[in-house]
Amino acid sequence: MAAIMELRAAEDIRYDRVRAVQWEDDRLRLIDQRRLPGHMEHVTLAHLSECIDAIRDMAVRGAPAIGITAAYAVVLAARDRYRADPRGWRVALRPDLDALAAARPTAVNLRWAVERMRRVIGSAGDGDPAGLLLEEARRIHAEDIAANHRMGAFGTALIRPGSSVLTHCNTGALATGGYGTALGVVRAGVAAGRIAGVFADETRPWLQGARLTAWELVQEGIPVTLIAEGAAAQLMKEGRVHWVLVGADRIAANGDTANKIGTYGLAVSARYHGVKFMVVAPTSSIDMGIAQGGDIPIEIRDPAEVLCCGGTRTAAEGAGAWNPAFDVTPADLVDAIVTEVGVVEAPSAAKMAVLGRQRTGVAGAADD
Ligand code: MRU
Repeated sequence: MAAIMELRAAEDIRYDRVRAVQWEDDRLRLIDQRRLPGHMEHVTLAHLSECIDAIRDMAVRGAPAIGITAAYAVVLAARDRYRADPRGWRVALRPDLDALAAARPTAVNLRWAVERMRRVIGSAGDGDPAGLLLEEARRIHAEDIAANHRMGAFGTALIRPGSSVLTHCNTGALATGGYGTALGVVRAGVAAGRIAGVFADETRPWLQGARLTAWELVQEGIPVTLIAEGAAAQLMKEGRVHWVLVGADRIAANGDTANKIGTYGLAVSARYHGVKFMVVAPTSSIDMGIAQGGDIPIEIRDPAEVLCCGGTRTAAEGAGAWNPAFDVTPADLVDAIVTEVGVVEAPSAAKMAVLGRQRTGVAGAADD
């Protein structure tokens, strides 16, 4: 038994190598995800405004990774404000944090991380707050990685050996502190021999599936088959996929889930074809302050992202475009929400409330 556990641990480490967000030499170092897979480049950030730009312009993306970036960004912002004015830094920092929290509207992890950092600011004494804030940012980062490993195990337990899965967008190490949410289940499921095949949607318009998910899986020797989103229903009809595994940017109190545009269509198709649908997300993605998915703010991005591909115009001149970055999947299309504190099958408001009480860090729960 011990030998099997060691083997599993070794396999887990093998499947956990990428780190998108790192604190190094008192600065924030991000993999520039806009440049992958062709170029592995980093951006190094020393000030808040650079962090806001990196989040808005998608150098870093994925709900948990955005939250972790924001936590470190608060350290940078507080450092600058304290240096400029050791007495008035708290007041000067307030609008900075509001601007940071608003950098992208849908992923609640961003606001959640800023609120956690605000609490540390509130309890900091008169001296330089940077040390305390860095400790909290590192804690948020480490907790996210640990949560992902737990979700990997919980999610894998739901999947029958030999299954094939379809995933959407990128929910891996690049989108989180490390390991990933839905892609963490892929990593754990492959390591445990339960997942035999992985399909990934290319995920227009940013191609997170083709550029990022495929890159992560290839890095780690996990075979992946890419499909255009339009191929997903046919894949399900042919019985070639057993689970759809997705992440979440925000889960409402009734289990409705906002995630990358295209997720809702996959859920509708999955239900029609008898394919199971799993949402994998840490409790930092749950917003108990939002009753149902229709109230989740959906980011509408620049139409140019749809009209162009890789910087080249691909649409007919004169055409317009609508570019919602996320959609909402109703809870009744979800078979399981997997979090680090447990699994909610067939989610409902009552079941989500029980889950919310298990972890007080949930946004909108008692401590918020
Ligand atoms: O626009 P993005 O790339 O930030 O969107 C990312 C997603 O929709 C992910 O599925 C979600 O954030 C979960 S990441 C673990």
